[in-house]
Amino acid sequence: MTLKEKIAMLHGNSLFSSAGDERLGIPELTCDDGPLGVREEVQRNVWGAANWTTDSATFFPNGSALAATWSPALAYRFGEAMGQEALARKKNIMLAPAFNICRTPLCGRTYEYFSEDPYLNAQLAVSDVKGIQSQHVSACIKHFAVNNQETWRDSVNAVVDERALREIYLPAFKAAVEQGHAWTLMSAYNLVNGEHCSENEFLLNKVLKGEWGFKGMVMSDWGGTHSTVNAANNGLDLEMGSQGPYDKWYFADPLYDAVKAGKVSEKTIDDKVRRILWVIYHTSLSADRPQGSINTPEHSKTAYDIASESIVLLKNQKNMLPLNTAGIKSIAVIGDNAIHTFASGGFGAGVKARYEVTALQGIRSRLGKTIDIRFAQGYKPDYKFNYTAQQKAAANIPNQQMINDAVTVAKSSDIAIVFIGSNRDYESESKDRPNLQLPFGEQQLVDAVTAANPNTIIVVIAGAPYDIGDIKKNNSTIVWSWFNGSEGGNALADVLTGKIDPSGKLPFTFPAALNDSPAHALGTFPGSNLTADYKEGILVGYRWFDTKKIDPLYCFGYGLSYTNFKLSSLKTDKKDYKTGESVSTWLNLKNTGKYAGKEVVQLYVSKVDTKEDQPEKQLKAFKKILVTPGDTKQVALNFNVNDLAYFDDNLHKWVVEPGEYKILAGVSSRDIKETAVINVN
Ligand code: BGC
Repeated sequence: MTLKEKIAMLHGNSLFSSAGDERLGIPELTCDDGPLGVREEVQRNVWGAANWTTDSATFFPNGSALAATWSPALAYRFGEAMGQEALARKKNIMLAPAFNICRTPLCGRTYEYFSEDPYLNAQLAVSDVKGIQSQHVSACIKHFAVNNQETWRDSVNAVVDERALREIYLPAFKAAVEQGHAWTLMSAYNLVNGEHCSENEFLLNKVLKGEWGFKGMVMSDWGGTHSTVNAANNGLDLEMGSQGPYDKWYFADPLYDAVKAGKVSEKTIDDKVRRILWVIYHTSLSADRPQGSINTPEHSKTAYDIASESIVLLKNQKNMLPLNTAGIKSIAVIGDNAIHTFASGGFGAGVKARYEVTALQGIRSRLGKTIDIRFAQGYKPDYKFNYTAQQKAAANIPNQQMINDAVTVAKSSDIAIVFIGSNRDYESESKDRPNLQLPFGEQQLVDAVTAANPNTIIVVIAGAPYDIGDIKKNNSTIVWSWFNGSEGGNALADVLTGKIDPSGKLPFTFPAALNDSPAHALGTFPGSNLTADYKEGILVGYRWFDTKKIDPLYCFGYGLSYTNFKLSSLKTDKKDYKTGESVSTWLNLKNTGKYAGKEVVQLYVSKVDTKEDQPEKQLKAFKKILVTPGDTKQVALNFNVNDLAYFDDNLHKWVVEPGEYKILAGVSSRDIKETAVINVN
């Protein structure tokens, strides 16, 4: 190839593609956004719908919903189905999954991402990547790295110590590369320790391509390239962006000139082309590439299964759930979120959903034949991510007339189900949320309806933590759902009626107050002078709350069920271990209740008398198990002693602290049922 031909492959030639080479028969490389499903087609060179009639797709549950299933198996099916849809839409790369750590509950993209915990994050990321790539479509893991806020996202410098990077922010990327074999990675917009991620020598050359042996291609986020020579020499392979003229981009004519001037070697250019070809060989040029399929019943079933396993039962004090449908004549369904759809909204990627079942439709289709289902909207979410502060404030003023109407409907119904939370306009890429409050006057609506009808159930639909402290205090029954995809309403109705036992577990901590969470407690969000100092180090999420002994509103890993489980008899295969050895543990899980259900058994490890500032406890293994009433299942959970290592900032390497460790088996991070002690030499 001539230098010109090579360089033509290193930058976008449209919004979602980069050039191949006609002379050599190298096809164009096409990509499209996830992670919610294959994005609707946009025009080739302009942001704006292409207005096709053939670009509808399955809307899959959002990232935190998938994380709440705690099911790598579902993550695989998610990826596989999305890969099939990508093929049907002729896309070679899906820009998914996205799994930056939930450092602050306010991050606008929390709903797209998975969790605050690096281990849960990694398990899901690996399976998701494997699922997508099983279809000969490349996953593009994003955003590498430390993209934890949207405020000043193009220019904020995240200052993070190496220990926190290695222990919290990088593990899922490492796993997705080493175990998931991801073919493509997207660099983040922000800077990490003074260098933009798209030209970050440490992240891209040293860690990703050096230590982890990443063979694939690094693409920039859209418009996230900031130089020619630095980016080219520090590990970026493909520049992507939003506007032409494409030949004026950093990785176009200026790169040619830089090679000619000897500032970037042709060997470096060859390496980039080789990486891009490697992705092409695995995707569009792969010999046994499947056909792909879109909007199939199987994909709907996958979306349904994820949604139904993601729903978290937060409170069921009066056992109102599952609904005793035989004894109910009328249900008041209240709240805009019962009729809202979530496939699109806000800034960023959405899906032109082939269909999306709302909560009201789900309830009507499941119960409408025998029960009178009435609806009142309760509030109107007049909100856009780019509204002025004044407009946003106005959107949160309760609408008394709508509340009165809701109260009237609630009063005359046997039970009321109030749907609140947020939507895709309120939680959006490019903007962090202003606070943890419920928007749109929802609290007032809840209070009024609850006063009118004591049999009130609250369903929150959202993608990130909110302050539901008053609801937890005053309401008996709370269900948490998500932007749950095409089948969201059906899955929710099936959980409410008990066809599905709720088995979702929170993938992040709900703080009782914003200032309890680490970045806020330390005043480092969003930072100042475009610098966010990650002073909390490794104490992110429950690691912070547990170590500092702060009670959250709902802890990491929390979620109830309609049935009861009993964990017992935790055993380890030995008492004394050396580094490199595997620790095998077993315990019994009995279903002592009336419903078949799935429990997520969670194994945390805690260093006794740590001298290395280790967090109070850390998740090291988990498994989701189905048990029928009266039955007992033996659960085996393993980890390696090396997984107990911390990263020593001075030695720049992983070190296992010797001594005693407690193994804590439980059903949430704060509900530990069984403990064992092991010794590491
Ligand atoms: C987002 C990416 C996305 C890209 C292309 C950017 O604004 O950060 O996640 O893949 O746009 O739509």
